[in-house]
Amino acid sequence: MSKINFHIPVLLQETLEILDPQSGKTFIDATLGHAGHTIEFLKRGVFVYGIDADSKNLKIATSRIKKLGLSKNFTPIKNNFSNLEKIYKSKIKNKRQRSHPQGDIDAIFFDLGLSSNQQKSKNRGFSFDDDQSLDMRLNPKTQTITAEHIINTYHFDQLYQIFTKIAQEKYSKILIKKIIDARKKSPIKTGLQLSQIILDHYKKKNLYSKIHPATKIFMTLRIVVNQEFENLDSTLKQTIKILKTNAKVLVISFHSGEDRIVKQFIKKHSLLGKITKLTKKSIQATKKEIRDNPLSRSAKLRAFKIN
Ligand SMILES: C[S@@+](CC[C@H](N)C(=O)[O-])C[C@H]1O[C@@H](n2cnc3c(N)ncnc32)[C@H](O)[C@@H]1O
Repeated sequence: MSKINFHIPVLLQETLEILDPQSGKTFIDATLGHAGHTIEFLKRGVFVYGIDADSKNLKIATSRIKKLGLSKNFTPIKNNFSNLEKIYKSKIKNKRQRSHPQGDIDAIFFDLGLSSNQQKSKNRGFSFDDDQSLDMRLNPKTQTITAEHIINTYHFDQLYQIFTKIAQEKYSKILIKKIIDARKKSPIKTGLQLSQIILDHYKKKNLYSKIHPATKIFMTLRIVVNQEFENLDSTLKQTIKILKTNAKVLVISFHSGEDRIVKQFIKKHSLLGKITKLTKKSIQATKKEIRDNPLSRSAKLRAFKIN
């Protein structure tokens, strides 16, 4: 394997303080990525089931853990975390009774979105300068709708919903018209083509953006393609079904829509007496962390425990 720049784990210290990894505990890392967080759990003696829908990241994480000599307490699982309950019943519950009889799952950890290598990769469609693809599926084997399909076939009204409600893009009507004009001439097939249309729109409208102008639209397309809001909502419900009293759930999100889902879930189920909040407000990265790792700038961490 060529040299990999591993994803830098976000809000790591804050995660360790809340989840309190200790020898003999068992965690599910629902978004394994490059195992940045999981490695710290494993070093402290935790058994970890690491889930990722992306086979490449699962391989990278598994080999990284092996090289560090931490494989003994680690089980990789290729799946979408939206199947959490099924995964727990088929791969964890029965296995645990045989191998680690000391209890159930103590914590489930979510670090949503993409790892840095996925964002930069040149043939997955996630990147602004990808000149090969506008795909954006986490798992092309199980998913059918791509970002290319959405951009080239959705009607104005469908794109308007996505661009305003999720991306909260200003002047989206004008931008959508530009996209529709462009696709009439020839299909928009790459991240580069789409990001250039957005850049051009920003320039013509004299719009200023601290981050790359295409960031919001790309993130939104990824969220829609991978049904990220629906999956998060349904998976949080599943955590209550499979976890024992005092088990913890911690979510790091990067989009206001995701954070709203977590916040509302915590509010509703706290009122029902099913869970207890562990974070009064969302926890965000310090200035230093943002300086060292700009990807952490929009991260919000919330956690709760099961009653
Ligand atoms: C931000 S990265 C996690 C980084 C990791 N905590 C680290 O420090 O290396 C998110 C990972 O979750 C995976 N992922 C995102 N949504 C998923 C889902 N619904 N099911 C399974 N894996 C998912 C992505 O493929 C990616 O590898």
